[in-house]
Amino acid sequence: MSSEQEWDIVSGIGITALAVAASRAVETSRDGALAKDPYAVRFVAEAGSPLPLPTTEAEATAIEGESGAPGVDTYVAVRTRAFDDYFQRALDAGVTQIVLLASGLDARPFRLPWPEAVVVFEIDQPQVLDFKMKVLRKCGATTACDHRPVPIDLRLDWGTALEKAGFDRARPTAWLAEGLLPYLPPEAEEELFHEIHRLSAPGSRLAVEYVGDMRQALDSDAIRDNARSAGVDVGDLLHTDQRPTPRARLSDLGWETRDVPAPEAATGYGRPLDPDFLMRSAVYVFARRP
Ligand SMILES: C[S@@+](CC[C@H](N)C(=O)[O-])C[C@H]1O[C@@H](n2cnc3c(N)ncnc32)[C@H](O)[C@@H]1O
Repeated sequence: MSSEQEWDIVSGIGITALAVAASRAVETSRDGALAKDPYAVRFVAEAGSPLPLPTTEAEATAIEGESGAPGVDTYVAVRTRAFDDYFQRALDAGVTQIVLLASGLDARPFRLPWPEAVVVFEIDQPQVLDFKMKVLRKCGATTACDHRPVPIDLRLDWGTALEKAGFDRARPTAWLAEGLLPYLPPEAEEELFHEIHRLSAPGSRLAVEYVGDMRQALDSDAIRDNARSAGVDVGDLLHTDQRPTPRARLSDLGWETRDVPAPEAATGYGRPLDPDFLMRSAVYVFARRP
């Protein structure tokens, strides 16, 4: 299936958002979870996925043995917590405008305790946000913040859509691009960084997940076969060409950056990554516009 085709929640890119939600459900079921997302299990249940997506630790252990993707749930837990902590630091620094780029089925606007004065925008494909909001409404989910979904393709003029939804470029913003970059063609990625920069007042922050060696991360027959069984060709969905690192792009734009390798973050949270985990080259980039 090509990324230009069907966009419902159980096919194409939609299922990537669902798979991440399943990992968050698994983490939520653990004692001492790094992040708790009570809605994750509901997204998986409501979607009716053709793939057997585990939502508890026991199911995950059983399925992981077959899928050949060891450590993915731990990775998602660590990544989720690393970016949750980033938002807490941004709030502590007085930032009150948040933009989640490609928020997928993450329920941050609902699962984190945002103060009332905060506005949280979330951008993703219309079909993904549609499904997400239907399930959240069914769950009776509420949020204290001013929550504004902006359904648009990030390869289009999303900056204008964001401003139409009330985004204020004079106000410092905390941006997040989590699980997004490999889905964008190189020119759209470059445009994304320029647009973030254009819309960022001094004092704005950005957190980005970057997978250094995407080719190596995808070099697994088990992952390809597993995805194919759900009608997804990962080669069609993900772009593996070499590009400048986020650090290089942001430094060129005058931002201060700090790279935290995912294995280091994982160890810091007391949840070391599996030695066979295929995305060990992932880096969390934290940047600030002076
Ligand atoms: C792997 S999911 C990650 C979602 C979320 N950040 C999380 O961690 O749960 C990738 C997300 O990127 C979104 N995405 C990919 N390409 C996109 C595009 N061109 N425009 C908008 N969203 C896009 C998908 O719809 C999907 O929700």
